[in-house]
Amino acid sequence: MNAAAPCDALVFFGATGDLAYKQIFPSLQAMVSDGRLDVPIVGVAKAGWGVEQLRDRARESLAEHGGVDETAFAKLCELLRYVDGDYNDPATFTELRAQLGDARRPLHYLAIPPSLFGVVAEGLQASGSAENARIVVEKPFGRDLSSAQELNATLHSVFPETAIFRIDHYLGKEPVENLVYFRFANSFLEPIWNRDHVDSIQITMAESFGVADRGRFYEEAGTIRDVVQNHMLQVTALLAMEPPSRDAVDALRDHKAMVLRSMRTLQPEDVVRGQYEGYRQVDGVAQESTVETYVAVRLHIDSWRWAGVPILIRAGKCLPLTAAEVVVKLRRPPRVVFDESRPGPANIVRFRLQPEVEIALHARAKKEGQGMSGEDVELKVLEDTTEDMTPYERLLSDAMRGDPTLFTRQDSVEAAWRVVDGILGDSTPVHPYVQGSWGPAEADRLVRDVGGWRDPAPSA
Ligand code: BG6
Repeated sequence: MNAAAPCDALVFFGATGDLAYKQIFPSLQAMVSDGRLDVPIVGVAKAGWGVEQLRDRARESLAEHGGVDETAFAKLCELLRYVDGDYNDPATFTELRAQLGDARRPLHYLAIPPSLFGVVAEGLQASGSAENARIVVEKPFGRDLSSAQELNATLHSVFPETAIFRIDHYLGKEPVENLVYFRFANSFLEPIWNRDHVDSIQITMAESFGVADRGRFYEEAGTIRDVVQNHMLQVTALLAMEPPSRDAVDALRDHKAMVLRSMRTLQPEDVVRGQYEGYRQVDGVAQESTVETYVAVRLHIDSWRWAGVPILIRAGKCLPLTAAEVVVKLRRPPRVVFDESRPGPANIVRFRLQPEVEIALHARAKKEGQGMSGEDVELKVLEDTTEDMTPYERLLSDAMRGDPTLFTRQDSVEAAWRVVDGILGDSTPVHPYVQGSWGPAEADRLVRDVGGWRDPAPSA
């Protein structure tokens, strides 16, 4: 299919599930509201429901997540259809084909467990609904490198890679896109964005809450699979990639894949895992669980640009606050010129990804008065607290339009699994940490030579 041809129907499997409730309905309403979605929308699930119940569910979802916009909701209800049935039953797909009517380029969003991808893909193919279609799948994409390869093979048996849109919702975040924009729309950063000027990089994704009612899911995942293999490595790739050429097809994804391929495979000594006290009492969690709710890793990119620059990634639940931040620390000036009692911290470039959106440069400036002594100043390049489009809205619209830029490609997904494959499971001990702390003290050994962890500041 012509990659730019827009889809003429949107099908979502798992219509009665959690993801649909929290993310999909609000995105659909927003897309309908501003005219980006005006095609049949078909929910599929096995709940013994009819379309009326799906509409009720949509209203409940919206009431809880962002509010019901009555005009857009009425339009959404007009477009909404529902197919009830088992994914193993060919009749479900026959009914889906009937509901699709004249649509010839549907988008199929699989908001269902990966174990069902194969059967759904085959059902779509057998019923004639896979031809010219796109398929959107959610993370986690596999549990490790070999299961990701199997899953890719399963999807590829029905869909070409150009029709597969793998969601990593971090890539749909405005400030994450801005990382790339800020790097390559300016000329002052690139000359220093390398091993000659960058001392180290820290990326922190902190959450102040625990796993809540997702104990069962988390037991299968852990922090490395849940957010490092995907969100954190994708952010690292955007930070570290070479400038993409505007005219080359898929250049951004090519360059990201190249960075991921240059990342050194993590070894147990590069990793410290932690588990918050109380995690084992969460519903669905094993009493002796060794699954991590925190991880810190020290990563290396074996490229000409980044050789020898430590990249520290830290992510965890039940930490003191919720924030995601990137700190690029520059090397100090080569000589001390001024006779100051304290030369001050190194310059840094800081990208705050959430909850606020900020880009800031930390520097030294002279204090007014006699003598050459200075103070730390922060130059805010950008400060914004609003996100006018949610990541799901952005990503779903892009998939409908056929723009794959913000989706993860097979080679990147597999390269990222290769980076973490050796540190999954119990290859390293898990250290308990107190809820509300910055994780286990053992993680400090990873940052001794870079001046320690730089914790994100609380929101103002
Ligand atoms: C998800 C993880 O992918 O990302 C969650 O499964 C995590 O555990 C979430 O909380 C964080 O994303 P956001 O956008 O809410 O910060």
